[in-house]
Amino acid sequence: MKIVSVVGARPQFIKHAALSKKLKLHNSILIHTGQHYDDYMSKIFFNELKIPFPDYSLNVGSGTHAYQTAEIMKGVEEVLVNENPDLVIVYGDTNSTLASALAAVKLRKKMAHVEAGLRMSDKKIPEEVNRVITDYCSDYLFCPTLTAVENLKRENITRGVFLTGDVMADALTEAKSIAEKSGILDDLGLTSKNYLLFTLHRVSNTDIVDNFISIIDAIIKIGESGENIVFPVHPRTRKVLRETGLSERLEKVIKVIDPVGYFTFLKLLNHASKVLTDSGGIQKESYILKVPCITLMNETPWPETVNDGWNVLVGTDTNLIISCAFNFSPENKYSNYFYQGACDTIVSIIESR
Ligand code: UD1
Ligand code: UDP
Repeated sequence: MKIVSVVGARPQFIKHAALSKKLKLHNSILIHTGQHYDDYMSKIFFNELKIPFPDYSLNVGSGTHAYQTAEIMKGVEEVLVNENPDLVIVYGDTNSTLASALAAVKLRKKMAHVEAGLRMSDKKIPEEVNRVITDYCSDYLFCPTLTAVENLKRENITRGVFLTGDVMADALTEAKSIAEKSGILDDLGLTSKNYLLFTLHRVSNTDIVDNFISIIDAIIKIGESGENIVFPVHPRTRKVLRETGLSERLEKVIKVIDPVGYFTFLKLLNHASKVLTDSGGIQKESYILKVPCITLMNETPWPETVNDGWNVLVGTDTNLIISCAFNFSPENKYSNYFYQGACDTIVSIIESR
C-alpha cells in the first residue's frame, strides 16, 4: 500500500515518529510542509526521533492563515497527483492538517485523521476550525478517546470512526527511559520536583495583549517569590515578549530557554513539581506522567485530564494562576484515558481495509 503522510508542526513530528515505525511494511512517503522550520522546532525532532528525511519538503514557512493554508494545499496537491497514494494520513489540528485534508479530499483520495473528534466550543479558535473540517473530509477517523468518538456521534459522524487510543501515549512510553538520560536538570542547576515548567503559544494568549500581560505578570510574581521556573519559549511567544518589552523583567526571575527537543522536554516535564501551559499535547503528557497541570485556557480538548483531577483550567486570571501554582494538589486518581497501543491499532485497521 502506498501511504503519504503529511507533517509540518512540532507535535506532528512526534506523532508521526511513533506511527511511521509501524508502517514500515508499506511504501511510506513523507511530506514536510515547512510550517515549523527553525532547527529547534523541526530538525531536532527528525534527528532525535530518527524520522527519515522527508521525501518532499514544501518549505512553506510562516504567514497568514490563508497564505499558509493555500501554499500547503498547492504543494500537497502536486505531490498527491504525482504519487497517487492509496491513503493520505494527517495528524492533529494545524494549518498543515487542514490544507492537506482539503487537497486530499478534492482529489478523492482516501484520508485518515489521527487525533480525530476533539472539540471545543469556541469556533473562532483556529485549531477548532481545522479539526472540524478535517474530520468532515476524512474516511478514517482515529479517535484518541471515547469523548472524541462521542463528539463525532453528536455531529452524526459514525462511519469510519475508530477508538484507537492516543499515539502520543505510545510516543511517550517509548521515549521515557531515553528522556531520563538527559542532563538538562544539571545544566540548568535544578533538582527533581523543585521547579515549575511553563510553556505558552496559543494565539488567544499571545496575540490578545491583555491576556499575555496577565499571564506573564503571574509568572513574574511566582518567580519573584523564589520559585524556580523554566520556560522553553515558542518562537511565536518570543516575538511577543520582545514586542511587549517584557523579556528583560521575565528573564531576571525565571529561566527562559530556547525550545528543546522531545527527550529533553520530557525530562523537564517528568521532574517538574507542576506545569503551567496552554499546550494540548503537554496537558496529555502531564496527565500520563502524573504531573499536576495548570492550563492557561478556559477550555480543553482533553477534558479527561480535568475529570481525574490532574488538570485545572485557570484561563488568564493572574491571581488564580498564582494561587494554583502554590496550592493545586491533585488526588491520585488515574483512569488511563489515553490507553496504549494506538499505533498498532491504527495500522491494523488500515491493513484490514
Ligand atoms: C501551530 C499550530 C498550533 C500548534 C502549534 C504547535 C496552526 C494554526 N497552529 O501554532 O495548533 O499547537 O503549531 O507548536 O496551525 N515561527 C518561527 N519559527 C518556526 C515556526 C514558527 O519563528 O520554526 C514563528 C513565526 O513568527 C510564526 C509564528 O511562530 O509566524 C507562529 O507559527 P505558526 O506555525 O503559524 O503557528 P504556531 O503558533 O506555531
Ligand atoms: N515539546 C518539545 N519541546 C518543547 C516544548 C514542547 O519537544 O520545548 C513537545 C511536548 O513534549 C509535546 C509537544 O511538543 O509532545 C507539544 O507541542 P506544542 O505545545 O507546540 O503543541 P500542541 O500540542 O499544543 O499542539
